[in-house]
Amino acid sequence: MMPTAPSPPPQHVAIIMDGNGRWATRRGQPRAAGHEAGVRAARTAVRACRDAGVRVLTLYAFSSENWLRPTAEVDFLLALFVRSMEAELETLHAEGVRVRFIGDRAALPPSLRAVVQRTEQHTAGNPGMVLVIALAYGGRQDLLRAVRVLAGRIAAGAMAADQIDEALLGAHLDLADLPDPDLLIRTGGEYRVSNFLLWHLAYTELYFCDLLWPP
Ligand code: IPE
Ligand code: IPE
Ligand code: MG
Repeated sequence: MMPTAPSPPPQHVAIIMDGNGRWATRRGQPRAAGHEAGVRAARTAVRACRDAGVRVLTLYAFSSENWLRPTAEVDFLLALFVRSMEAELETLHAEGVRVRFIGDRAALPPSLRAVVQRTEQHTAGNPGMVLVIALAYGGRQDLLRAVRVLAGRIAAGAMAADQIDEALLGAHLDLADLPDPDLLIRTGGEYRVSNFLLWHLAYTELYFCDLLWPP
């Protein structure tokens, strides 16, 4: 029998990395230990996707609703992001990964905003996989930001409402220049999208699994 050709990898994989807290609780550890393990799992996922030939990987690291968690957990997560990105920057750069961030940047503390900007600038010319990290991201907020820009233009008389079509609205969203995800993976056993890429998931295949994000 002729061997079948391996199917091509998805172009764009998006992941809702859920289950860090439960992973730690099951081990009798604080939730923070779960978030540290979550970062290690994210590193593994980045390498695995890159090796598989995925062109874009989008990771949901912190949602707009995650601000409502206890202050100590939010502060720990924000500091963890700063620490992890500083630690990973040179490795990602050496691997040719281009890192980008989506979400409400203005809501981030200055230390995190600075490392986000530094990481984007440092890796901007890289030819390899695009790694998109969603921080303080909400799909509804993404749509609202785009609608406000377009409404402002209409109010200023620069365009008419019926000029808004799918292409124009899509072009004003955070992932404007990238293809929509072909595949969304959510770990942690919840069957919902939790305000992730609402516009972009219109035709995305959804894969939910009960495994927690850290292995
Ligand atoms: C996902 O894990 C990480 C973030 C949302 C930052 P959780 O912290 O939601 O873990 P569970 O769902 O409570 O187990
Ligand atoms: C989704 O997980 C957000 C991230 C993984 C960053 P959550 O744990 O915050 O989502 P809900 O609360 O189960 O909807
Ligand atoms: Mg969760």
